[in-house]
Amino acid sequence: MEELALHILDLVQNCVEAQASWVYIRVAEDPALNTLSVSIEDNGRGMNEEQQARAIDPFYTTRTTRKVGLGIPLLKAAAEDTGGSFTITSAPGRGTLIEASFVRDHIDRVPVGNMADTLSALLALHNNIELRYEHVVGDRSFCLSTAVLREICGDELSHPRIVSWLRSYISEQENSLEV
Ligand SMILES: Nc1ncnc2c1ncn2[C@@H]1O[C@H](COP(=O)(O)OP(=O)(O)OP(=O)(O)O)[C@@H](O)[C@H]1O
Ligand SMILES: [Mg+2]
Repeated sequence: MEELALHILDLVQNCVEAQASWVYIRVAEDPALNTLSVSIEDNGRGMNEEQQARAIDPFYTTRTTRKVGLGIPLLKAAAEDTGGSFTITSAPGRGTLIEASFVRDHIDRVPVGNMADTLSALLALHNNIELRYEHVVGDRSFCLSTAVLREICGDELSHPRIVSWLRSYISEQENSLEV
């Protein structure tokens, strides 16, 4: 996949399928240490050790519509291609934490990409999930939380007009991190 934002969209989909009521996404870039780490944490059904081992195997999936699951193996490969690392921390009934860390300036490191599209799609699709997103670049950061948004915009975060406003707001905030 060409963008981290697409990996994130894919992995948050897993959290939703695992019946999570909240998902916390964090992208942390440290130019001084030359690292970029992504973590996706949820309070869904979780996985035991065997399920975790199988999740990193591309030929394992609990989906019934297709024989391979690729979300996790693709993110793991993207991180490891840069000399980074990948871990799953999970327990049944306790939720899941997925962490991928990249060497930031590696030639094969995928760009963060369009987080505005990813987050607005997630908001449009899943009105019931509490999402928290944080993107840190050095000493700058941007944070978005559906709990706070609901206080400002009311409960209809999936309304097309709100989603569209949020998409441009996120895009603006993300761009200001790049400077
Ligand atoms: N956050 C999670 N909580 C619980 N189980 C998970 C979670 N993420 C992944 N899994 C388990 O790991 C399996 C593999 O996930 P992966 O995203 O790689 O493939 P998939 O979701 O099955 O298929 P695809 O993502 O290609 O549509 C899932 O089928 C699911 O059983
Ligand atoms: Mg998946």
